[in-house]
Amino acid sequence: MKILAIETSCDETSVSIVGDKLKVLSNVISTQIPIHAKYNGVVPELASRAHIQNINMVIEEALEKANVTFDNFEKEIDYIACTYGPGLAGSLLVGIMAARTLAYIYNKPLIPVNHIEGHIFSACIENKVKPPFLSVVISGGHTELIIVKDYGEYVFLGGTRDDACGEAFDKVAKILGLPCPGGPVIDKLAVLGDINSVHFTRPMLKGGWDFSFSGIKTAVLNYSKKVDITDKKVINNICAGFRQAVSETIVFKAFEAVKKYKLKNIVLGGGVSANSLIRKMFLDNGKKYKVKVYLPSATFCTDNAAMIGTVACYKILKNKNKSAFKIILPKPSLELENW
Ligand code: KG4
Ligand code: ZN
Repeated sequence: MKILAIETSCDETSVSIVGDKLKVLSNVISTQIPIHAKYNGVVPELASRAHIQNINMVIEEALEKANVTFDNFEKEIDYIACTYGPGLAGSLLVGIMAARTLAYIYNKPLIPVNHIEGHIFSACIENKVKPPFLSVVISGGHTELIIVKDYGEYVFLGGTRDDACGEAFDKVAKILGLPCPGGPVIDKLAVLGDINSVHFTRPMLKGGWDFSFSGIKTAVLNYSKKVDITDKKVINNICAGFRQAVSETIVFKAFEAVKKYKLKNIVLGGGVSANSLIRKMFLDNGKKYKVKVYLPSATFCTDNAAMIGTVACYKILKNKNKSAFKIILPKPSLELENW
């Protein structure tokens, strides 16, 4: 079985071919970071235009890397999968129309995939991990704790009440005059700073599973007005203090949740799971509390189509093709649903 999966929910155009036993035969990602960098954030109109420009090339490259051509496509590819939400409407539309066109031409079943489910299962591409587990989805748009009881069976514990953690990294970078996306830059500079130089309050540590990061972002803004942010040392110290506070908050809540719900596994996903301190803290705490921690490798942390093909594979196996549709529409505010 081979699945061609398409992901275009935000600013990465990605196509992957996923084969039997979740083997990723190709995973091509065309990033738009340089296009949006000068605007300090993703510009939806530019994102959809770039997807239109890139999608055909990315499909061709993904097919080529998996040794599939348009001549043997009908024989080689069994399903088309595509992200249908949440995300930017115009961006989703480009991937969906490409998927619908291929499904129509080659008469293949179309599998709609929720982008968040992609992040939930991205660490399962390279690790043998099965539900139940606690999923920690930390990305530019989400900060969520979800109990994955089984494939397609979720209990949502909590999410962000305001800024997602990746969004907070990006906004703090903007405040400090650092390039976008801010997460990787802050991660690098934080290593050079002193975590004891600036202390930011750990937001909402007790009571409920929700997160809130807008307060800490405002605290950085207020602090940055009182100090000289042209001084590299000052910037490094702010990055260190901020990264420490965000990381401790996420790790604390995740381990409280596994304790309360007696879970033995934690699976991370989303762009922020690339953060070096968050990875280290999860692994260290996992050892301390005897909880197995699964991390996606760097390519599978941020948006990619391999994670979409992986979820499609689970859907096909569980529903025995009953979930195959001919028409997918974009759902920008799609929530996690059981199937
Ligand atoms: O999962 P993703 O590619 O897109 C969404 O679905 O949102 O995540 C992008 C986010 C950005 O906010 C980016 O700053 C953040 O992930 N990010 C990081 C790191 N690498 C990417 N945040 C903290 N540390 C990193 N190393
Ligand atoms: Zn994402």
